[in-house]
Amino acid sequence: MSYPYQIRSMEQYQSEYKKSVEDPEGFWAGIAGNFSWHRKWDKVLDWNFTDPRVKWFSGAQLNITENCLDRHLAERGDQPAIIWEPNDPEEHYRILTYKELHFKVCQFAQVLKNNGARKGDRICIYMPMVPELAIAVLACARIGAIHSVVFGGFSAQSIADRIQDAQCNIVITSDGGQRGNKGIPLKSVIDDALVQCPSVKKVIVLTRTRVPVSMIKGRDTWWEDEIRKVETQGNPVCPAEPMEAEDMLFILYTSGSTGKPKGVVHTCGGYMVYTNYTFVNVFQYQPGDVYFCTADIGWITGHSYIVYGPLSAGATTLLFEGIPTYPDAGRFWDIVDKFKVNILYTAPTAIRSLMGFGPDYVKSKDLSSLKVLGTVGEPINEEAWHWYHENIGKGRCPIVDTWWQTETGGILISNLAGITPHKPAHATLPLPGVQPLLVDEKGEPVPGSDAARDGVWHGGASGEPVAGNLCIKFPFPSIIRTTYGDHERCRQTYFATYPGLYFTGDGALRDAEGNYRITGRVDDVLNVSGHRIGTAEVENAINMHTGVVESAVVGYPHDIKGQGIYAYVIFNGDKSDPVHVRQAIVQTVARIIGAIAKPDKIQLVSGLPKTRSGKIMRRILRKIAEGETGSLGDTSTLLDPGVVDEIKAGRL
Ligand code: PRX
Repeated sequence: MSYPYQIRSMEQYQSEYKKSVEDPEGFWAGIAGNFSWHRKWDKVLDWNFTDPRVKWFSGAQLNITENCLDRHLAERGDQPAIIWEPNDPEEHYRILTYKELHFKVCQFAQVLKNNGARKGDRICIYMPMVPELAIAVLACARIGAIHSVVFGGFSAQSIADRIQDAQCNIVITSDGGQRGNKGIPLKSVIDDALVQCPSVKKVIVLTRTRVPVSMIKGRDTWWEDEIRKVETQGNPVCPAEPMEAEDMLFILYTSGSTGKPKGVVHTCGGYMVYTNYTFVNVFQYQPGDVYFCTADIGWITGHSYIVYGPLSAGATTLLFEGIPTYPDAGRFWDIVDKFKVNILYTAPTAIRSLMGFGPDYVKSKDLSSLKVLGTVGEPINEEAWHWYHENIGKGRCPIVDTWWQTETGGILISNLAGITPHKPAHATLPLPGVQPLLVDEKGEPVPGSDAARDGVWHGGASGEPVAGNLCIKFPFPSIIRTTYGDHERCRQTYFATYPGLYFTGDGALRDAEGNYRITGRVDDVLNVSGHRIGTAEVENAINMHTGVVESAVVGYPHDIKGQGIYAYVIFNGDKSDPVHVRQAIVQTVARIIGAIAKPDKIQLVSGLPKTRSGKIMRRILRKIAEGETGSLGDTSTLLDPGVVDEIKAGRL
């Protein structure tokens, strides 16, 4: 497969960017022409950011799995589509060719149909990182069911919330999962969740760890038994359901600054075109390359850059079940060595953690196959960037620092590996089709921050970087379409802060060369080890504990996680054993949200700094958590300024 739309030089990047701004419809129609469609579009783009309404390729029909599987069969049917490395290095790895993957997806799509799944149904997937997870995702897409994958670290309550919100009728899970030394009782967690979920009629359970599980008659069925039934039916090739370009492909829940997580909706056509385009261009994928993204399919990175982007490009994508430190901190490098990985895409938090184990784990490994390195999920500090560049890339691999979000579906700002320059700690330049703009508090555009107007190589005129809140002016094909079941929430969250713009929630700088540098969230969203967690969500979970009166959660700088979770808690229960109290609060958060949201520090306080109108002054709490010893700014408007000294004195 060749990629006629792969940008091969700086000049070409600049001219493609210009074309994408001057004629977005012509630009994207040209790229979309490289895919298989059942029917071509009537209109390339129809949009406004007021409703908001965004429709790409209206009238077109396609099935994304035909683009990810069927169309590769003739040319590369026997090439590896998925390489799977298990958690336990002693267990044998698996390779699925495009032919095999196609066959298995068709089989499982038939299983879904046999279990009553229909186009438009919502199906929840809660599985470990095994090939069957990718197969389940693609099987849903094959029959036009909408998948909602939930990361294995979420609790029963979080799963129940997500299943209820989307009214899922089928759940796909496995008996258990294994990450490092830790077993995860996936089916048991699902059983707890389903007590609250009457919409679920069927649960399909893959055998993975062989832990004993309860299988409920009439509801639960084994994956393997279902496959056998399809085999006895003679393995019909499950035809791909023709989908409208704007039909929903999936829902993925993500945290914001208020309320429960929202179901971000992506649709079939635009998402396919954009994830493929960015995969091919950012990583400069060449046919035959082995590409390894270390994310979990439970997050957007896994959806877009383990499954849909790479497979639609006919790439070989490596899926890893385990963790970077098991059996030791050399695991990633063993995998690179073992499968001759050419492109490695990981998170800054993993890099920082492995850095801490010292260079010995890297030294003995052959990393000469690596050509391109990537990072995603959070800002990368310069120290980690240089370590990655020197120790892993041996100074010869470009690093792509890819900035994007669950809501954007694909990478928006990044250098193109080896084509446009990298710069430590900078996401650098927008992809063609992406029009970033920084605005000040009032929503006024910051001069020198508008790539589409100022040109991609031109930034702030004075030479000093300009700063502001990062917005996007114009729709790109994979932008969020709605939040499931609540379009108004989508408008409020992303399109109402600065009318006419999509607001990302991030702050950024732009330098004189036009490079964007993402500085982090400007709202009450934390980024812990690259995972997005809303402070309000953690507070709600803490407040569920009977002894808790009130709490306030902020982030603080954490050497490995990027941000840690710091909770201030007013507790009126028995405080004689504060260690016990803290553990009980941590347990509560793990129950309500999941292990990923456990606070790192819990300070028991007698009051919280509040304004006279009752608003918690988070700014002050943030400063204390960050270790600020000097002035905390103006505290005169506080109801009880004395509480600040007490909190400061008790800082952990
Ligand atoms: O704050 C930004 C940060 O992660 C947020 C999006 O989180 P999520 O939707 O979970 O998606 C993560 C994977 C795309 C953003 O608002 N972020 C993501 N990538 C970067 C980043 N911050 C700095 N640099 C990045 N490369």
